Amino acid sequence: MTTVADVRAAEEPITMLTAYDAPTAEIVEATGIDVILVGDSMGNAVLGHDSTLPVTCEEVESRTAAVARATDETLVVADMPFLSFGVSEADSVGNAGRMVKEAGADAVKLESGPHTIELTERLVDLGIPVMAHLGLTPQHVNQLGGYGQQATTEEAAGELLDLARAHAEAGAFSLVLEHIPANLAGAVTEAIEIPTIGIGAGPDCDGQVLVITDVIGLGEWSPPFSRQFGDVRSEIERAVTAYREAVESGEFPAEEHAEVVEEIEDVY
Ligand code: KIV
Repeated sequence: MTTVADVRAAEEPITMLTAYDAPTAEIVEATGIDVILVGDSMGNAVLGHDSTLPVTCEEVESRTAAVARATDETLVVADMPFLSFGVSEADSVGNAGRMVKEAGADAVKLESGPHTIELTERLVDLGIPVMAHLGLTPQHVNQLGGYGQQATTEEAAGELLDLARAHAEAGAFSLVLEHIPANLAGAVTEAIEIPTIGIGAGPDCDGQVLVITDVIGLGEWSPPFSRQFGDVRSEIERAVTAYREAVESGEFPAEEHAEVVEEIEDVY
């Protein structure tokens, strides 16, 4: 079983992937992925929103519970949705606690900034492991004006490095670096004790994460830094079309799909 201590001490590249339901989580675990993130990317990936902002604690909690029920070996990290943390300490602790106590997550992820340093320390003190997340933090899309690359100036790169150090010191067990220059990600990885997990941050992180619907080719769009490793969308289209045609032509259900009970032959 992968633990936060295993992730902290990993010597091989850490593999992390999102999942939002039990059957997918089961498949992901069977492939040997180290960490499943029940990301708030579910907003875009599977809930039909055009951002992560509408995602609720109830949605993350219920999907985390499904993933936790379907897995034994994989570290399950619940992503704290927009405004479920950072507003008041009591609410932040309560919401993070729900993910662990009720949904069965092993850890939570917080989109991080200056406002999450003390909170990270508090959660870790209380026994809730924290994965930090810097760079492109999609919950700030309205402030950032889009989903572009972050920390592209020397000043912003320095601020990101300071925040990375602060979260490592606050006790985070790992740090997601999203859509930042590859050389900055490499420098952060060198500078801090905890592992970095990159997405759109180049090859020099300690691990990589992608969104499952991008990897399997389920969504219509994926970001340029991602890679589609499969084409599940075409396979679903093929299977669903075959089903519709079989029903319309009367070829399905066939004899082997129907059970006749002789005793009720005289009912009509
Ligand atoms: O919500 C998510 O899936 C994420 C990853 C892209 C890191 O935050």
